[in-house]
Amino acid sequence: MPCAPAEAARSTLTDSDLWHYLARVSRSVIASPSPNRSVLELASQHAQPELFGSQGLNHPDRIATSPIKAVNVACVPQYSPLRYPGGKTWLIPHIRHWLQGLPSTPRLLVEPFAGGASVSLTAVMEGLVERCLMVELDRHVAAFWHAALQHGPELCDKVTRFDACRANVQRLVDQVPNSLIEAGFRTLVLNRTKRGGILAPGASLARSGENGKGISSRWYPDTLNRRLTAIHNHCSRLAFMEGDGLALLESISWQKSDSVFFIDPPYTAGGKRAGKRLYAHNDLNHARLFEALDERDACFLMTYDRSPEIEQLIERHQFHAVQVLMKNTHHARIPELVITPQPLFEP
Ligand SMILES: C[S@@+](CC[C@H](N)C(=O)[O-])C[C@H]1O[C@@H](n2cnc3c(N)ncnc32)[C@H](O)[C@@H]1O
Repeated sequence: MPCAPAEAARSTLTDSDLWHYLARVSRSVIASPSPNRSVLELASQHAQPELFGSQGLNHPDRIATSPIKAVNVACVPQYSPLRYPGGKTWLIPHIRHWLQGLPSTPRLLVEPFAGGASVSLTAVMEGLVERCLMVELDRHVAAFWHAALQHGPELCDKVTRFDACRANVQRLVDQVPNSLIEAGFRTLVLNRTKRGGILAPGASLARSGENGKGISSRWYPDTLNRRLTAIHNHCSRLAFMEGDGLALLESISWQKSDSVFFIDPPYTAGGKRAGKRLYAHNDLNHARLFEALDERDACFLMTYDRSPEIEQLIERHQFHAVQVLMKNTHHARIPELVITPQPLFEP
């Protein structure tokens, strides 16, 4: 078994080292059934936990409002089968502006806090980047991505055959899955039938569902299968790894010209409770995240809620931020920050 990058000098690895490592791991672990399989495809089959090691001042007027508006999710194509709490479909026009404005098409977009991965999927499917690496710590979410990338057709088949009545969903809640496909399918069903798509412990199944239509009100087999099929069709350009996104960011000295980062961490700075309720993994050292991006001079776009702690970190690292007013589920407009190393969206 080759030596994992995390065991090597943390500061000297490059992203090509990473791909090299993945290629060697892939070769050593499986006799590939298809000689044409790409490193990306193989990487998504063999997530290596050891790769990641272990697991301003608040002056509202100093942050301008972005001239690009948050869009209603119905206005942009949705590619993720997961309805993810804190999902970033509303940010897609900003993402397009950012990636299309770069001097060349990035070879790799890294999404270290992937969740429903709406940005990675959009970037690959709209040809804004060559390939994406999605990283997520939650093992249930990870099971879904592994299953979607490795067993797309089988997952579609399960979606088609599933009757999303309360008894069947409850059976899945109580079940311990015995295969990767079953674990991934279970995550998909629970995500589409739990209140707000929340998978964190304590989240309950939807009672009346959307417009009182019951527990299956967000279970759209045809739409889900279309999205799963599109992911399957792009799987040579999508890789998924289960692990700590911050540790991955810190353990590789990413080559700036090759890699860009979309960062959407849980919003828990200052002990905020919303982020804690939404995700099983929400304990993040936000200061370390800012340092990692600054030290690597990374090309990134990061989102956060407005909080004094985050605004201080933006100021300390001399990053740039605009706010975007987006509507929450109760139709209240709340500001979110879009943070970049250079000004990108100033009015
Ligand atoms: C705000 S959500 C991302 C939502 C995503 N942008 C989307 O559009 O669906 C943050 C995600 O980060 C994950 N997470 C939290 N800590 C992590 C860590 N250290 N490494 C990787 N993922 C982590 C959470 O489980 C959650 O899925």
